[in-house]
Amino acid sequence: MFEQFAKDVDVGLSAQEKNLSSKYFYNKIGDELFVKIMNMPEYYLTRAELEIFTEKTDDMMAYLGLDNERHFELIELGAGDGTKTKKLLAAMNHNGVSYDYIPIDISDHALKTLVDNVSKDLPETSIKPKQGDYFECLNSLKKSDYPKVVLFLGSNIGNMPDDMACQFLQQLAANLKTHDKLLLGVDLIKPAAIVLPAYDDDQGITRAFNLNLLQRMNDELEAEFNLAEFEHAPEYDEISGVAKSYIQSKCEQRVAIKAIGKVYHFAEGEKIHTEISRKYSDKVVDDIISDTEFCIAKKMTDGNQYFADYVLNKR
Ligand code: AVJ
Repeated sequence: MFEQFAKDVDVGLSAQEKNLSSKYFYNKIGDELFVKIMNMPEYYLTRAELEIFTEKTDDMMAYLGLDNERHFELIELGAGDGTKTKKLLAAMNHNGVSYDYIPIDISDHALKTLVDNVSKDLPETSIKPKQGDYFECLNSLKKSDYPKVVLFLGSNIGNMPDDMACQFLQQLAANLKTHDKLLLGVDLIKPAAIVLPAYDDDQGITRAFNLNLLQRMNDELEAEFNLAEFEHAPEYDEISGVAKSYIQSKCEQRVAIKAIGKVYHFAEGEKIHTEISRKYSDKVVDDIISDTEFCIAKKMTDGNQYFADYVLNKR
């Protein structure tokens, strides 16, 4: 982990356009800040998708084919806190659907918290958590003959550029069988007046989340970033639907990272690209699945049309 982090940081900060991967947001402090983000009034995504899971649960079960006698595997990529998924699990339990709930996450801690949470509220649920890489876990699940429904919620796919999202979906399809399904939750393209505040909240929680990357380099790589000399700089292009976050240097400065043994130069106003949060339309979803074995079967949205959960069928 340490070696990989040091290497990624060196490559990212040596690039012509400096960048750091958003996957490094999620250490202990980052996980805690992300929970706060999900509960902020500006972060409409959480409420919008929860509305779909609360009010369209019956449609969802029907579209996913979860309403008959067959035993299913309900696989969730990324543990989350279970709030949304529990709505679906409760409805499935109520309807007597036979299934195993298999959350997959790289973080043992996140999985444990989720399992405790679900077992407490829905003790009758059969949970079989898997810790590890998504595709390694999916590959091991391939052996079973049960039909599979994969959940990938929260617009988590939005952290990937489109070509990477396409590759990800190809790999996912390769681990599924014909008629298996993917429930893909995505944030929809909408005006900047709504999107930008979600990434630039009044309390400065997202700012702290973004700048925590600098703190993490200080803590883990003996870097010497002065957080006061950097600013959180989000952008959103409402035509393309791409939101990006940057960390911007307030002044010209040099910063040493001792664990790498190098000094990095920042011009005044220079930015480090830290995150992409893509927003979607039918067209964009069509584009990213066009070279995959998935096709769109159904689409569910919240009342504001802020968010969509697409049911994709594996051909
Ligand atoms: C977890 C990727 C869906 O991009 O909206 C929230 C992460 N970053 N605020 C998103 C995030 C800043 C979030 N996703």
